[in-house]
Amino acid sequence: MLKRIILCPLAALLIGGCVKEKEAVMQEPQTLKDAYADYFLIGNIVKGANMDDSLYNILTTHHNIATAENDMKPQYLQRTKGVFTFDDADAIVNKALSQGLKVHGHTLAWHQQTPAWMNQDGVSRDEAVANLTTHARTVVEHFKGKVVSWDVLNEAIADNPPNPEDWKASLRPSPWLQAIGADYVEIVFKAAREADPAAKLYYNDYNMDNTNKATAVYNMVKDINERNPDVRGRPLIDGIGMQGHYSSHTNPVNVENSLQRFISLGVEVSITELDIQSGEGGKQTDAQKITQGLVYAALFNVFKKYAEHIGRVTMWGTDDGSSWRKEACPTMFDDSLSPKPAFFAALDPDKFIAENKVDVETKEAKQSEAVYGTPDEDAWSQAPSIPIDSYLMAWQGASGTAKILWDETSLYVLVNVNNAEMNKANQNAYEQDSVEVFIDENNGKTPFYEKDDGQYRVNFDNEATFNPASMSEGFESQTNVSGRSYTVSLKIPFRTITAKEGDVIGFDAQINGASAQGARQSVAMWNDLSGSSYQDTSGLGVLKLVKR
Ligand code: G3I
Repeated sequence: MLKRIILCPLAALLIGGCVKEKEAVMQEPQTLKDAYADYFLIGNIVKGANMDDSLYNILTTHHNIATAENDMKPQYLQRTKGVFTFDDADAIVNKALSQGLKVHGHTLAWHQQTPAWMNQDGVSRDEAVANLTTHARTVVEHFKGKVVSWDVLNEAIADNPPNPEDWKASLRPSPWLQAIGADYVEIVFKAAREADPAAKLYYNDYNMDNTNKATAVYNMVKDINERNPDVRGRPLIDGIGMQGHYSSHTNPVNVENSLQRFISLGVEVSITELDIQSGEGGKQTDAQKITQGLVYAALFNVFKKYAEHIGRVTMWGTDDGSSWRKEACPTMFDDSLSPKPAFFAALDPDKFIAENKVDVETKEAKQSEAVYGTPDEDAWSQAPSIPIDSYLMAWQGASGTAKILWDETSLYVLVNVNNAEMNKANQNAYEQDSVEVFIDENNGKTPFYEKDDGQYRVNFDNEATFNPASMSEGFESQTNVSGRSYTVSLKIPFRTITAKEGDVIGFDAQINGASAQGARQSVAMWNDLSGSSYQDTSGLGVLKLVKR
């Protein structure tokens, strides 16, 4: 039950208006920390001990736990081997404690903001292990009794790992992994536990709403805790941090699914870096503010539902102006520090949803037909052409059309692309000039990938990539470039169905347009504008398999 505050204004007292209970004014909590007092801690970041007073005021008014945004990361605490520089971090921690806030520590091991002497520059395994354990032990001991929990290890799992059942194979190829091997994960947790057995030890990562990443994290924590059930009286890893750098396209169902899985391990879960992108160039339309608020509201409702297992919900930024993603206006306060709809959404999710949920008519998915036949000129001439020209981002770059044929074993897709830069310089395949096809063989429209779902990408130079990676078997493609245009033809074997006339499958096609500098500058789609087709099939268009 939420606490209710009885307000008794001075004027009312003077005229005796608060004497009778029935006249008492009931008011909902006005601060986030009061609204969630019976659920979990509410946190935010500190940018430094001398953070702007008005930002610090937001911090102390609405929150009861703080995380240093940068100052406790390895490069700030031990830039030079053996020289620990705690001054800035001490100032942050002491000030927060003096203001009645708790402090969470971030982070002991990461692939970013870590000096090269620790794990690169030809450092041997033994040296790297010594560097890792010395750093973790010294830092945790230094803050013992002041810091209640630590992000011991940050972002160790790769994005959308293709084989998440094997967590070791899913580790990001970080300098720590390369210098030490997969056991660096246990090594750093053990050093932290020894240094302060009372502090809660967390594994922390982003994109945890992605099923593959969540599965790899689940398997890692399960394996490590099963092998280390009693390290100073309890399993080695106390908690999993779901960072929560989301957007207004995030599907709360995916967040809830991952939360449930992590909770089933018996660990605590925290939301550690929540922000929700919704805007461009530092500006948001009124509609974007409401949409963003609805996502905050839906997520806070999910967190409330599992509050028993959630330690804290920490936002990554007090206000848009000081956010690391300020271009996308992701926080609850605008850059003049006024509360946005997102704030009221978090304060009282149900009220906000009731007041703002417009009857969103479920947008009908676009529909088209795939025609029976194997590729030849006559068959292609029978197939309707679908436009791939709805843009996901502001820039309107390469676009095109697609035709689709089918037989019992495969789908055949022919995509014509115009206005391309023909650039494949970027090491991320999705940032190269390329075509993507998404298939949901049972048209299940699930917010996560099932066995019948897949993503196929071919760049203009006929280099193919797959999600999941196992789907390359039987796949064929050709490309043909002419000036700023290219065609891609794909043969995609069905994996879970033997196709027949009348079948309906989920389908989408995407064109990635690279800039001349080699960064993706535009994304054109047939139907799904969620930006999540790589992990969520609910927004795909629909194809009917027909014979003519
Ligand atoms: O150190 C320089 C400083 O000397 C200079 O005055 C200043 C001016 O630009 O730049 C400083 O470094 C910046 C640092 O933040 C401190 O402001 C770095 O360039 C910048 O890259 C760094 O960004 C931080 C980022 O982590 C680093 O990857 C963001 O502030 C911080 O919000 C962000 O936080 C991470 C979490 O730790 C882990 N999860 C993801 C999250 C967002 O990326």
